Amino acid sequence: MTSNVETAVKCEEDSFCGVNTVKDCEHMTDLEKKHQPIITASKSVKKGECFEVVVEVGKLMEHPNEPGHYIEFVELYADHTYLSRMDLTARKTCPVMKTCISLDHTHGKLRAFAHCNLHGTWESDADIEVTD
Ligand SMILES: [Fe+2]
Repeated sequence: MTSNVETAVKCEEDSFCGVNTVKDCEHMTDLEKKHQPIITASKSVKKGECFEVVVEVGKLMEHPNEPGHYIEFVELYADHTYLSRMDLTARKTCPVMKTCISLDHTHGKLRAFAHCNLHGTWESDADIEVTD
């Protein structure tokens, strides 16, 4: 029988277990740079007004885009509220999702997820405030 600590260490080494995040923004690894979804959006938006959100993977360091290794999907949430998703195919699409959303109140942070077929799911977030 293994302890919880041993299980946690094993999970940490398995990029398909849970969701991966950047550990230290000041000292990102190449793996983190290639997979972190970068959210570009206004920090403050008006209630009920559409605004553009861009989620890009590979902005800090290019991610491979070939059949054996590519980003399969990108998703956007406002906290735990699902907003948008884009499925991708290797070579013919790029991992950049541009979408317009409108929020009726502050939900918390915008959260983006990107899934790599070889390196699992990666998450990042961005502050956003909804004003009247
Ligand atoms: Fe990857």
